[in-house]
Amino acid sequence: MTVTPLELRSAEASALRAELAAVGPTNALDVVTRLRRQFPNVEAELVSAVVTQAELARRGERRLGSWAHDMVLEPIALEQATRRDVARYRASQLIGRLGLEHPRVADLGCGIGVDARALAEAGCEVTVVDRDPWRCAAAVLNAELSGAVHTLCADVRDVDLSNVDAAFVDPARRTPNAPRSIDGTRSTKEVDPASWSPPWPWVVQTSKALPLAAKASTGLPISAVPVNAEVEWIDHDGDTVEACVWFAPLASTRKRATVVPADPSQQAESLVASADSPAPVAASIQAFLVEPTPAVRRAGLVDELAHRFDLHRLRSESHWLTTDTVPATQLARAWSVVAELPTQAKALRAALADRGPVTWKTNDVPVSAVEQQRRVRHQPVRGAEPTHVVLAAGGIVVEVTPT
Ligand SMILES: C[S@@+](CC[C@H](N)C(=O)[O-])C[C@H]1O[C@@H](n2cnc3c(N)ncnc32)[C@H](O)[C@@H]1O
Repeated sequence: MTVTPLELRSAEASALRAELAAVGPTNALDVVTRLRRQFPNVEAELVSAVVTQAELARRGERRLGSWAHDMVLEPIALEQATRRDVARYRASQLIGRLGLEHPRVADLGCGIGVDARALAEAGCEVTVVDRDPWRCAAAVLNAELSGAVHTLCADVRDVDLSNVDAAFVDPARRTPNAPRSIDGTRSTKEVDPASWSPPWPWVVQTSKALPLAAKASTGLPISAVPVNAEVEWIDHDGDTVEACVWFAPLASTRKRATVVPADPSQQAESLVASADSPAPVAASIQAFLVEPTPAVRRAGLVDELAHRFDLHRLRSESHWLTTDTVPATQLARAWSVVAELPTQAKALRAALADRGPVTWKTNDVPVSAVEQQRRVRHQPVRGAEPTHVVLAAGGIVVEVTPT
């Protein structure tokens, strides 16, 4: 992008944005032509860049909420950016774990500065570091919307960290030249942590010098994490979005599962291991089936969840739990049991004959929903209500409805 972040914040850019907002959603080409006619003295490049910013803001809304509309954005950096609610949660955790009200924090590999903005908003004095000058400039403007920020355009590995109380690092897991998805919107992720930028071994080494938190991909092998560090898998809006590694002295347990609610009026909720005993197995299916969130499963805390909320596993090898009382937690979703169904394809087809479309919930078994539909050949009755069917380990099939 040749238009600078500062130019995107100029009075001319603001006037263009205001005009764009007044026009409402329309074809990008038409709008550029119209704006160029209306603002003949403004550089064509700035007009196009402002239109692109508006499109990126629309694309970034799910990730960034209202921040998508006042931040300077860049397509690849937006793809890599942390979700606003998760950045806010992590920033408040960092402050709490450090025990300092206004810590000096370096955001290493800041991108367009979503984490930096959350850190500044939470009261940190932030230094943003990125080797990409455009992103550095954008990160400062963006994070300054919420607090105090310094900037360093450099390779994070060359930065002197002796003047900060802590650091946060979010290594790039997608390289700009990596193959992209068919629709071109997402590049594939680098799975080997040693190939992230900065590489994971550098992150681990740096954690020995100062309190450090790192954002890693959800599939980070626990063996890559020092034994005295904590891994926190974080769910947001139904997805596990990251594994945050809290290196000692910021760690307080080994594995944690957290749900950060999309609704800001709700508190985040966490689960850590305390008892090591397996959950009891149910003698029969009770009134509800309970599905732990993906983070609870990734953290291996299904037994812990069962103990905390008095739940039973359906089978010892199943992640589905059962109970007669809906547990009051965001760490699991409860479904009302309608009926236990036969396992065999023909009998199952007959049992579902009067039902509408079926959603097969197959994440407990090595069969995909598509394969299951092909096997059963269920023909939905037109106009009938959709149905959910759980396929649990041990050959258990249960029809459920959302609670
Ligand atoms: C995943 S993005 C950070 C996203 C950011 N946390 C956010 O939420 O907006 C990683 C960033 O690290 C930067 N980066 C990668 N390797 C770097 C290095 N060795 N030194 C400095 N910056 C680096 C990339 O330019 C990229 O902007």
